[in-house]
Amino acid sequence: MSQRDVTETTESQIAVHWQEEDYYYPSPKFIGQANLTDPAVFDRFKLDNFPDCYVEYAEMLSWYKYWDEVLDTSDAPCFKWFKGGKLNASYNCIDRHLAENKNKTAIHFVPEPEEERIDHITYHELYVRVNEFAALLRNKAKLKRGDRVTIHMPMSAELPITMLACARLGVIHSVVFGGFPASACADRIVDSQSRVLITMDAYHRSGKLLDHKPHADEAVKLSEEQGQTVDTVLVWQRYPGKYSSDKPMKDGRDITVNEEIAKYYGERIEPERMLAEEPLFLMYTSGTTGKPKGCQHSTGGYLAYVTGTSKYIQDIQPKDVYWCMADIGWITGHSYIVYGPLSLCASSVIYEGVPTFPDAGRSWRIAQNLDVSIFHTAPTAIRALRKVGPDEPAKYNYHFKHMTTVGEPIEPEVWKWYESAVGKGEAIIVDTWWQTETGGFLCSTVPGISPMKPGSAGPGVPGIHPVIFDDEGNEIKEAGIAGNICIRNPWPGMFQTIWGDRDRFVKTYFERYCKDPKSTDWRDWPYLTGDAAMKAEDEYYRILGRIDDVINVSGHRLGTKEIESAALVADEVAEAAVVPVAHDIKGTEPDLYVSLKPGFEPSEDIAQKVSQAVIDQIGKIAKPRRVWLVPDMPKTRSGKIMRRVLGAISNKGDVGNVMTLANPEVVDTIKTMVEKE
Ligand code: WT7
Repeated sequence: MSQRDVTETTESQIAVHWQEEDYYYPSPKFIGQANLTDPAVFDRFKLDNFPDCYVEYAEMLSWYKYWDEVLDTSDAPCFKWFKGGKLNASYNCIDRHLAENKNKTAIHFVPEPEEERIDHITYHELYVRVNEFAALLRNKAKLKRGDRVTIHMPMSAELPITMLACARLGVIHSVVFGGFPASACADRIVDSQSRVLITMDAYHRSGKLLDHKPHADEAVKLSEEQGQTVDTVLVWQRYPGKYSSDKPMKDGRDITVNEEIAKYYGERIEPERMLAEEPLFLMYTSGTTGKPKGCQHSTGGYLAYVTGTSKYIQDIQPKDVYWCMADIGWITGHSYIVYGPLSLCASSVIYEGVPTFPDAGRSWRIAQNLDVSIFHTAPTAIRALRKVGPDEPAKYNYHFKHMTTVGEPIEPEVWKWYESAVGKGEAIIVDTWWQTETGGFLCSTVPGISPMKPGSAGPGVPGIHPVIFDDEGNEIKEAGIAGNICIRNPWPGMFQTIWGDRDRFVKTYFERYCKDPKSTDWRDWPYLTGDAAMKAEDEYYRILGRIDDVINVSGHRLGTKEIESAALVADEVAEAAVVPVAHDIKGTEPDLYVSLKPGFEPSEDIAQKVSQAVIDQIGKIAKPRRVWLVPDMPKTRSGKIMRRVLGAISNKGDVGNVMTLANPEVVDTIKTMVEKE
């Protein structure tokens, strides 16, 4: 049983049942104002003009020194873009806008409690706050160029301020999603060897002020146990001047940023002149094994790519108010809340809480009150908003020109509601397919040029040349046949390597289709995305789901091994297997099968304990739909757990022929158990 078969009987089958949909065309009004309307862009970015085409994106930035070489392939597949060029990301996102736009809002911070005022932070204010915090990082926390720092913060204005202050000093930031538990934070502290952790005392979520500081204490303790000492914890206060946590500040280790920063009022820090190829940040993502991968993103290539795609695909212009609902703790937030929009001098909205709190109209009130013109979210949020209030958007007076969907395939039905109800038939939609590793978009329509097709991401964006290979490495040229989607060429936004593990980088993303591992020609290094996809006659790509052991819950990747290892933390558990099961809001959610060690009887208590173990290790996002305590796992004769069979049972599908299994009788037992519920 190959991995591909596993995919074909789960996610891709659902997708393949979708019909080809009709085109929707951008309105003349949208085209009339769009950044990019000339189809010649596809000519400029064709493979014949590679890699020089990407100078167009680099030219959107301000450089201290231009590059010596557009693309250096000598250490393939670790590519260096704009080699020798010098720039600073904080300078590009702030300083360069001051001359003309210092009084323009850079960030609208919207607190979850509706009675609290919105904070409108101008570019000038952002400049002041980033400089003062950078001074604190340098003088108090003793951070310098090349150091790594872990940031475990909620959605707040202080999060981008922290990131940009790091970027100003050339400190490599590693932001951990605020909803992740201490153990995930600790793993990332250890892997990146951070000696400084930056956090916040508390934040609002679903009407509650959550105490966040205990996670920092726990993360420091767990890191210490794994040999990494954190000597400094910087704590922002959600309410400056008032400490909102029950946990005490630890003397000599914890520093209240809001107090300490007073010592640096008025300080200005000259931005470090970073080489384009020096890392800007690490972003960890789930892999097929338990250990998350630290995707290392560059300064010059990354910033050029997110700026270019924000301009051409997001159509961001200085006059726009842009709201991306993602969390800054994911790559979407890094690229398309912080770096891309601020580099283009847009106003970027940061919302603290839940889109449907306190009621189904909240998101649309924010859109109305801030005059949001570009809206960016994920299918899971769209499904949730549709479920709680399908008629809500019509009650509010906002007008989007542009909307984005990202993170997982969107069902055409949901797409159409997004278009008509949320977009009021006025907004264009881009379905953007990409990954943590890729830094920015891979496939999408160009909004001012190409028609949209519900359920399809679209062709490669300018400069991205996708190709579908079968398992043997033959190119699948015909339309309508699924295979492994790869990208033929490198691009500036792609990650440089996995932090500290070049071998794993090569193995995971390139080995499968690289014919000559010694080659320094980029043509020999197609990038394996790990997704299955098929192409339609019009060269639009439909993404069918992952080919590896990764489950996509609410647009977030969770490694099956990660969840299974977490389940094994419960003493009673002998074996665990997790499968994705269809869910109408989350897309898929994990269903967890567990067999117990001899001597233990199945009980509700044990199921509860296993579920809690998963939540503690990975976070609420991974909470299993059910923990099924089964007498044994269906296994092949060689002892491999047949997740495909479990997946079919969970999704009420056909288990197929199981007679070749070592224990076919257990399949019926499990089936009966699940069907009874
Ligand atoms: C995986 C990447 C992209 C940033 C957020 C998630 C799936 C992503 C789409 C889309 C179909 C999509 C893929 C991809 N995915 N966007 N528009 N249509 N599938 O980043 O956590 O690195 O996940 O999400 O399977 O490989 P990520």
